[in-house]
Amino acid sequence: MTCHTAARDRTFALMRNLLLTCLIPLAGVAATASAQQAPSPDRPAVLIVATGGTIASTNYYSGNSAKIGIGQVLEAVPALDSVARVSTQQFANVASTQVSPAMWLDLSRSITDSLRARPELAGVVVTHGTDALEETAYFLDLTVAGPRPVVVTGAMRPADGIGIDGPANLYDAVRVVADSASRGRGTMVVMNDQVLAARDATKANTTRPDAFVSNRGPLGNVDPERIVFFSAPQRPPAFDLSGVTELPRVDIVYTYLGADGAAVDALVAAGAKGIVVAGSGRGAVPPLESRALRRAVEQGVVVVSGSRTGSGSIPVGTGRTNDGSPRTVGAGDLNVQKARILLMLALTQSSDPAAVARIFSQHQ
Ligand code: SIN
Repeated sequence: MTCHTAARDRTFALMRNLLLTCLIPLAGVAATASAQQAPSPDRPAVLIVATGGTIASTNYYSGNSAKIGIGQVLEAVPALDSVARVSTQQFANVASTQVSPAMWLDLSRSITDSLRARPELAGVVVTHGTDALEETAYFLDLTVAGPRPVVVTGAMRPADGIGIDGPANLYDAVRVVADSASRGRGTMVVMNDQVLAARDATKANTTRPDAFVSNRGPLGNVDPERIVFFSAPQRPPAFDLSGVTELPRVDIVYTYLGADGAAVDALVAAGAKGIVVAGSGRGAVPPLESRALRRAVEQGVVVVSGSRTGSGSIPVGTGRTNDGSPRTVGAGDLNVQKARILLMLALTQSSDPAAVARIFSQHQ
């Protein structure tokens, strides 16, 4: 009997151990599943402001593209629920090339108002068409004050495409905003698992998911488990938009051999208050165009010398047309579309080239 009892006890112990070995991991899975079904109320609050773009488009390449609302875009990202308490605002639903400077003012004010009215928000995600995403992102970087981050994202592939990037980019953008390490980093662009500073991000490819690059390198990576920041953007104080009803007209002139300045003269006649030149190399332009730029400067137009090369810098204090005119401002390492935005905002404060140069220096 004793022998049978001992054998029976050993069998029970073996079965119990086996059951525990199997059930404990299962209990863990059940706990994870129930955590996913009932996300913690402590998740950060994130506002998604939707403006349109490919991330909100179907049939993009068919010539018969249709827009979908942010509610439908979110249906492809159910995992967001476990990351943040998301609220949404459909600000617009347009291609990014339809976003105007007047819309920038509205968008920036709307985000500022939301952040003011909702202290519980960790920050804001903006969905945007990628073609002009870098411009809106830089405008927001220059005009939305405070430590709470704004992250702009989009998609290179339409919502009904193959191997789509929109849901992953949106998920990552919300994760970046929800991460406390993002505070104080201003407006960022999150695309293709990377975090880029709005100041430096630029679209460098027409179709690939890795289209966005930064001339100063990325700020960080969006890894599956965590956001890794390895660099902080510089953050001069935001421009105050309170008295601004309209942004001054600033145009970009792209130089090329034989350019005769006709475009410069036409833009001055159209009322440009500033002109940014995409010069060759370190800002050089052909002689006739240089003369036209000098005429523009003499009429009070602020001229900023940028480069069409796509990288490198032009010192702010020594920007010049070919004839050495001292009154132009160098773009530093801002690309010409970013230099245009900074010039628009600088001109809301002063049209003195020396004052504009000081503002450009602060943003290098
Ligand atoms: C757009 O910029 O609106 C179209 C292209 C895109 O979103 O990728």
